[in-house]
Amino acid sequence: MENSLKTEFENLLEEASEATFSTDYLQKLSDRFPGEVIFSTSFSYEDQVVTHLIKNLGTDIFTLDTGRLFEQTYETWASSRAFFKKKIKAYYPDPEALQHFVSENGPDSFYQSVEKRKACCNIRKVQPLKQALRGYKVWITGLRSEHSAGRGQMPQLEWDPDHQIIKFHPILHWTTQQVAEYVQNHHLPYNHLHKKGFVSIGCEPCTRAIKEGEDFRAGRWWWEDADKKECGLHVHQ
Ligand code: ADX
Ligand code: SF4
Repeated sequence: MENSLKTEFENLLEEASEATFSTDYLQKLSDRFPGEVIFSTSFSYEDQVVTHLIKNLGTDIFTLDTGRLFEQTYETWASSRAFFKKKIKAYYPDPEALQHFVSENGPDSFYQSVEKRKACCNIRKVQPLKQALRGYKVWITGLRSEHSAGRGQMPQLEWDPDHQIIKFHPILHWTTQQVAEYVQNHHLPYNHLHKKGFVSIGCEPCTRAIKEGEDFRAGRWWWEDADKKECGLHVHQ
């Protein structure tokens, strides 16, 4: 079963050329895998663009509510529901695992060590992600190559061996300006933190605004070394 999906992925790659990967490819994936394509949104600028692109396709949408998101993110979630009129499935951390972790380590242990930070991300994001992707064949994201060095070399269509799923990043090569213009031109709801120097937005205690000239991801887990700054949602070879 898993191997046959990998074969389908290889077939897609063979059929495709770089030019194929315009945003129209979303339609192709939705036709090829009806009811088996899902998009993950964190309600970022990028994710609002992708939500708009898939609005009329049969693609499902989910978000991972870590329980530590910004108030503004919850507001964007609510306004997105009203604007796009599409169901957004919400996934939550396992209550027992979270209860145990917080009881043992306190509410803000992510500042103490990379291990504890990753353990928190694992409970609040990585495990719920596994649940969210179950039963789907294609996972769409709003990743952009400008966001980090590690994402610069990523292919738009890739096989995710961890989740045994085909992954597609429709706006990987868009510039910040393209994204901002799209949001503006289509009057999409957006997270107001983007107007306050927040570029990449995750959980509230682990995200800060960036200053002029700083790297896109400088505001995420800012107390850690740059090479440790992934939460485990997107693992690249
Ligand atoms: S992360 O790995 O650092 O947390 P990032 O914030 O850059 O991810 O977002 C990249 C993509 O990951 C988003 O476009 C979205 O598809 C997915 N993503 C990130 N956070 C969430 C979330 N809380 N819920 C659902 N998808 C998310
Ligand atoms: Fe926990 Fe911070 Fe990771 Fe959110 S980003 S899951 S609060 S460590």
